[in-house]
Amino acid sequence: MHNIIVLGAQWGDEGKGKVVDLFAERFDVVARYQGGHNAGHTVYIGEQKFVLKLIPSGILRPGVQAVIGNGVVVDLAALIQEMSMLEGLGIDVKSQLRISNRAHVIFPFHRLIEKMSEARENRVPIGTTSRGIGPCYEDKIGRRGIRVADLYDPESFRALYDTLAEDKQTLAATFNLHETIDYTQIRRQCEEFAEKIRPLVCDTAAVLAGAMTQGKRILFEGAQGTMLDVDHGTYPFVTSSSAAAGGASTGTGVPPTKINGIIGVSKAYITRVGSGPFPTESHDGGGELLRREGNEFGAVTGRPRRCGWFDVPLLQYTAMVNGFDTLLITKLDVLDQLDEIPVCVGYGLKGKLLTEMPATYRALEAIEPVYERLPGWKTTTRGTTRMDALPEKARAYLKFLEERTGVEVGGVSTGPERNETIIRAGSKLEKLVG
Ligand code: GDP
Ligand code: IMO
Ligand code: MG
Repeated sequence: MHNIIVLGAQWGDEGKGKVVDLFAERFDVVARYQGGHNAGHTVYIGEQKFVLKLIPSGILRPGVQAVIGNGVVVDLAALIQEMSMLEGLGIDVKSQLRISNRAHVIFPFHRLIEKMSEARENRVPIGTTSRGIGPCYEDKIGRRGIRVADLYDPESFRALYDTLAEDKQTLAATFNLHETIDYTQIRRQCEEFAEKIRPLVCDTAAVLAGAMTQGKRILFEGAQGTMLDVDHGTYPFVTSSSAAAGGASTGTGVPPTKINGIIGVSKAYITRVGSGPFPTESHDGGGELLRREGNEFGAVTGRPRRCGWFDVPLLQYTAMVNGFDTLLITKLDVLDQLDEIPVCVGYGLKGKLLTEMPATYRALEAIEPVYERLPGWKTTTRGTTRMDALPEKARAYLKFLEERTGVEVGGVSTGPERNETIIRAGSKLEKLVG
């Protein structure tokens, strides 16, 4: 019996959506444990493209229960819009989706607070997705947030809401923010939205516990990536939630002892959206080529993604904090035309080789990556489904990543579609999802 986490090993956009969609048919429940509609998980089914932001990608598999866990922050307007989009495609959202009554609610004024915070003097902007994610988590941790369950206790909701609205008005005045916000209108709209989702709201920890009692299998879908985790990432250039594996337990109420496997999803190179240190970022033609061949533009904001080379020390670090059992390397096909492929194998700082990931962004910005160059295979791997059908040099590249990171490469993605995937026979990955 296996409950498995699938999460990003880098700075997000590793291809988690594709991987979750692929494996979801072998699970009964897919649960999101953190983040909100800042995520953009792209899934191709044939010619049809789906971008899931808030709802777990598992919903695309008929019969799979999709759970928005307590660790997620929910923008009700975004949720309802995504539900309608899926319903329009014939997906049975009402019977498949469940929303935690303990999840926190994002209000439109959270976006405003975020704008204000990003624009402050003497503050390096994080380059957020502007979805109000950070300010909503601030209210959660500050113990003044409003949870989904509160929406169904009208008296208590109004009292909580009015206090929160007052706080925000004070803050806006303090920072000379003169945008008009109709707080009463927001509250009314929120009450309307709450009615629409009422039948889907429940104690999802109990739903998951019940599922496990019946011997059902849960797949936890990470959003963002480990280097964007609020504790383990490149702070302060991170998101405001626990994207790393530990978040799966706190963000759903499933005990750590019930989680049996962790799959790290990593690109065969690396990308980042937004600001922050990025040791292997390529500012020359290499980065441009990766962006073009990999179509590296944000699924949520459309921003061009910053691109660079596979970073072994970073992967070793994310393997350490997550305990990856196996890696699934995506977008191998994007490297098909390269003569040679640089891979960062060490971090140099002030003439010394580092043995630990620096804790400060300033140190990370000063890193001098040590590269090895591997020969390219100069032939297409797109759509390959067997390891032995890959060109020898591509296999050597994957072997190199496996040896240097110390984590098995159990699978490879060779294209955006479900069937464009290799699961290595006899690998831990095969056992975990088998
Ligand atoms: P996520 O946020 O981790 O789910 O990743 P995104 O959906 O934001 O970005 C990954 C992008 O790469 C999407 O457009 C996918 O369709 C695409 N993709 C995933 N795997 C592969 C692959 O193996 N090869 C190629 N060429 N594209 C892929
Ligand atoms: P998926 O799930 C890549 C980045 C933003 C910004 C930082 C904080 O698709 O991998 P936020 O709005 O979360 O407060 O922004 O985190 N970021 C992502 N980058 N993929 C994502 O999600 C991201 N979600 C947030 O660009 O740098
Ligand atoms: Mg994404």
